Amino acid sequence: MIVAIDGPAAAGKGTLAKRLAEHLGFNHLDTGLIYRAVGVKHLETGLDAITVARALQPADLSHPGLRGEAAGRAASEVAAIPEVRQALLDFQRRFAQRPPGAVLDGRDIGTVVCPDADIKLFVTASLEKRAERRWKELIAKGETAIAERVLQDMRDRDARDAARDVAPMAPAADAVLIDTSELDADAAFAAALAIVHRKMTTKA
Ligand code: C5P
Repeated sequence: MIVAIDGPAAAGKGTLAKRLAEHLGFNHLDTGLIYRAVGVKHLETGLDAITVARALQPADLSHPGLRGEAAGRAASEVAAIPEVRQALLDFQRRFAQRPPGAVLDGRDIGTVVCPDADIKLFVTASLEKRAERRWKELIAKGETAIAERVLQDMRDRDARDAARDVAPMAPAADAVLIDTSELDADAAFAAALAIVHRKMTTKA
């Protein structure tokens, strides 16, 4: 069984995916991390992003700087290159097929990577809420962050991810939408679990 979770940055899809995978006993792949690893390695080595993507090693996903804002920006730039996306497709699909099941989160899982996924969720929240969450996270980590700057970065990243020609961020036609603007992590998990159970019962 494959659960595809897509949505914009800071909507809560990563936390949700991890928790759902733990609950179901499935493998979890944060596909954003792969694009982050390519973006960071490209910046650090000066190698072109396509070469980096084709030679990506599992160890590259453990780079300590992948969670930062600069890595997110670099990821969304290399993610617009069709050959980069193509190079990372097989890895993601192989991961999805591993038993006993998988939860993948990203931007194009339900539309491109796993169009036949059993369950598709599109997790979103208002731009303002997502920027506020990201800003609070940064401050909690002791980083200096200007709220307006975080908001603008997020707006730019949304626009780049939604407007690119290949695999733009979009809900699949058969995805169920979860808006977390007014939901905390527990409430989002409960909503997702209800959808998963409903789908599993109708499939059985
Ligand atoms: O989800 P996260 O913020 O880690 O993703 C970083 C960037 O990687 C996104 O802004 C997006 O450009 C890219 N990405 C993508 N397709 C995915 C996952 C992430 O294009 N499946």
